[in-house]
Amino acid sequence: MSPTVEPSPGAFAPEYPIRTERLILRPITPDDAEAMHAYKSDPESVRYVPYGPLEQADIERRIATTWSNTRFDNEGDAVSLAVEERETGALVGDVVLFWRSEKARAGEVGYIFDPRAGGRGYATEAVQALLALGFDGLGLHRIAARIDDRNTASARVVERLGFRREARLIDSEWFKGEWATLLVYALLEDEWRGLDGGKG
Ligand SMILES: CC(C)(COP(=O)(O)OP(=O)(O)OC[C@H]1O[C@@H](n2cnc3c(N)ncnc32)[C@H](O)[C@@H]1OP(=O)(O)O)[C@@H](O)C(=O)NCCC(=O)NCCS
Repeated sequence: MSPTVEPSPGAFAPEYPIRTERLILRPITPDDAEAMHAYKSDPESVRYVPYGPLEQADIERRIATTWSNTRFDNEGDAVSLAVEERETGALVGDVVLFWRSEKARAGEVGYIFDPRAGGRGYATEAVQALLALGFDGLGLHRIAARIDDRNTASARVVERLGFRREARLIDSEWFKGEWATLLVYALLEDEWRGLDGGKG
């Protein structure tokens, strides 16, 4: 039996902007700092994300460094994108796709939205576009989301998109001064394309 050779994702430079029905995903620019500050400085909004409430200067620094990357060259690369409401041009949030492993063709999504733009399905719509970027663009096999057990709104976003809950890791992280229980969600390329035949 000949071994199956799985295609490996190579470097990938997405074309921007990415348009969805109501949103535009595009590289983050220095002009976004003020609008981002509105939600990234809010303790409630950042409660379950890896960074603490950010000052505008922190945001400007990150925009000039980590958040300026717009392409995937090597595993470990992450692309953060601003999410704009098409109708108004307002920044409503930002999303990130991490390329976790080249060999396993694995990625992970992250997202944060301005609470004033919540409850309209924008996060779901933007993450759906990230999935297309990951599966169609980068050639990923599996995209994960790691979510604090208490972050029910975030779990609902990925559940709406068809992610399966694979694990509940009790007190597995020491996060912001307390133990956190982590939910691991994942979606395979075939599941996303509806080709898994109900395997998952
Ligand atoms: C996680 C987060 C993005 C979820 O925000 P959200 O507004 O609940 O998510 P969406 O923008 O996808 O909106 C979905 C809601 O809008 C409703 N909705 C209204 N119109 C809709 C539409 N056209 N399509 C889909 N949903 C729609 C849905 O019913 C849903 O409400 P429900 O969850 O109460 O059923 C937001 O809470 C957030 O930014 N949190 C802080 C950062 C964070 O924790 N990030 C995740 C780290 S893992």
